[in-house]
Amino acid sequence: MCGIVGYIGTREAQPILLNGLIKLEYRGYDSAGMATVTKGKVSVRKQQGKIAALSNLLKKKPLRGTIGISHSRWATHGIPSQCNAHPHTDCSEKIAVVHNGIIENYEDLKEGLIQEGHIFKSETDTEVIAHLIEKFYKDDIEAAVRTTLKLLKGSFALGVILGNHPEQLIAARLGSSLVIGLGEEENFIASDTSALLAHTKNILFLEDNEMAVLTKKSVAVSSFDGKAIEKKPTVITWDAAQAEKGGYAHFMLKEMYEQPSVIESIVHHRVSEEKSGVYFQEMKIPGKKLKCVEKIAIVACGTAYHAGLTGKYILETLTGIPVEVDVSSEFRYRKPILGKDTLVIVISQSGETADTLAGMREAKRRGATVLSIVNALGSTMTRESDGVIYTHAGPEIGVASTKAYTAQLSILYLFGIYLGALKNYLNIQRIKKLLTEMEGLPQQATQILANHKIIQKISKRHHDKNCFLYLGRNLNFPNALEGALKLKELSYVHAEGYAAGEMKHGPIALIDKTMPVVCIVPDSATHDKMVSNIQEIKARGGIVISIATEGDKHISNHSDYTVYIPKVRELFSPVLTVLPLQLLAYHIALRNKRDVDQPRNLAKSVTVE
Ligand code: F6R
Repeated sequence: MCGIVGYIGTREAQPILLNGLIKLEYRGYDSAGMATVTKGKVSVRKQQGKIAALSNLLKKKPLRGTIGISHSRWATHGIPSQCNAHPHTDCSEKIAVVHNGIIENYEDLKEGLIQEGHIFKSETDTEVIAHLIEKFYKDDIEAAVRTTLKLLKGSFALGVILGNHPEQLIAARLGSSLVIGLGEEENFIASDTSALLAHTKNILFLEDNEMAVLTKKSVAVSSFDGKAIEKKPTVITWDAAQAEKGGYAHFMLKEMYEQPSVIESIVHHRVSEEKSGVYFQEMKIPGKKLKCVEKIAIVACGTAYHAGLTGKYILETLTGIPVEVDVSSEFRYRKPILGKDTLVIVISQSGETADTLAGMREAKRRGATVLSIVNALGSTMTRESDGVIYTHAGPEIGVASTKAYTAQLSILYLFGIYLGALKNYLNIQRIKKLLTEMEGLPQQATQILANHKIIQKISKRHHDKNCFLYLGRNLNFPNALEGALKLKELSYVHAEGYAAGEMKHGPIALIDKTMPVVCIVPDSATHDKMVSNIQEIKARGGIVISIATEGDKHISNHSDYTVYIPKVRELFSPVLTVLPLQLLAYHIALRNKRDVDQPRNLAKSVTVE
């Protein structure tokens, strides 16, 4: 939620800040703004709407200066408007602040400041920070920020500049991500590394309760109470080209078509040549500890939660260990029963989702071992968990998660095989067979993605329907939820995902001749039960769109449309059956003229609770 970019150096700040904001726009896109310092004066430009609107404003009224901060907003307090856009300034308009997070005690602070004569211009929680710094500022900006930080409750990543101190950019973090990019005669701050890849790959990750004072030549990190902290930079391996569209119309389209190579690279880098074992070099949790695991709890949000639901089937099949799955926001409050023999797996693309982070901390507090499966390199979850497995899917910019999901599934298969081997639950023949079959998945995924004509045809005919139902069973039940989520978030068309066996317990009442029902029915133990469901839908006039295994004539006889996937073991089918569902959501959204990469009201990383 919200993107922050800051710069101090020798170059003009405006283009650097603007390009950085464009890379972070997926974090929030209801308004944007920028502030720089020239000749001791802070100048601010802000605009409601996307970064393009700010960019147009800057063409007319450019900002000069070699120090600046900028922000793209996802509204929490106060409607999206020019006035509520960041940066926010104090009464003297000499201090400018950008903020990601929520200041929970802002009303009390604001009341006190108003009584002291401060005049507020916005409805935001952020503005109190600018006024507090103004209140405490004598000559030392660092001291004024430090005193202010002690009063703030909630979560924040901050960037602060002051007209009187054009040689200093201040950053601070509590609960919302902030990274520092190290350059030559220049330094940067940003909400995540993707904004900085064009300038540097040397990154310092700020931790909670840390602040930093950046000059063009130095970065000094300290705790909020002033203790100096030594930090070593991490070198990021992603490159700037990975965060570009590369000729595709949308990031989402590019990311969907990257899935075969993402799966291939996961298998290639994690599996031994003779297919006898799986390696997770970076994981850090000793095999001895994993061998004692008696229970697994998976915690995640949204699409990552759906990967977790599929993960339950995968891990129970491959390890024999019972698995429970929770959405993070429920897990953290339900007093989960965990012990030292419980392995908690948190799954997250961003590694910054507030509820998942809180769930992870709760699990650690209760004595469980925490393994994170994360895409974003160096993110908070990877640093705080006992062990990490990176999905290495490359930057995912489209707000709707696609390649991160199939990468998460691929890692879950491999982790299941790894743990199953450790627990002596799988023998070597079975491991070899499974790993050999996994090697075929990228080619099968490519085949499905090439078959988009049928999906376009379905989208053309049915993009105007009011509601879709998605049904699946067993391993493909979570994909029914995922398919419905993709359609909802991209097209704003209502969609429900259901376990097909539940259809008769309620949703069947919705079915009439205007209702498309997407049935996920690959070769599986529950195939015939799905066929019965399809017949029940047809008997009530519903429009059946089936995702079935090549050659399944029986299904095509009963369906209005059949999208085929290659023959694959049921265990591996979810990583393939989800691909037509992603394509369907994409093409319906296009037909409905939606903003595919930036659907309304959403943001890529949900860093507030
Ligand atoms: C849906 C989507 C979201 C995320 C969820 C978790 O397409 O992208 O539902 O999956 O916000 O985000 P991460 O994986 O970053 O924890």
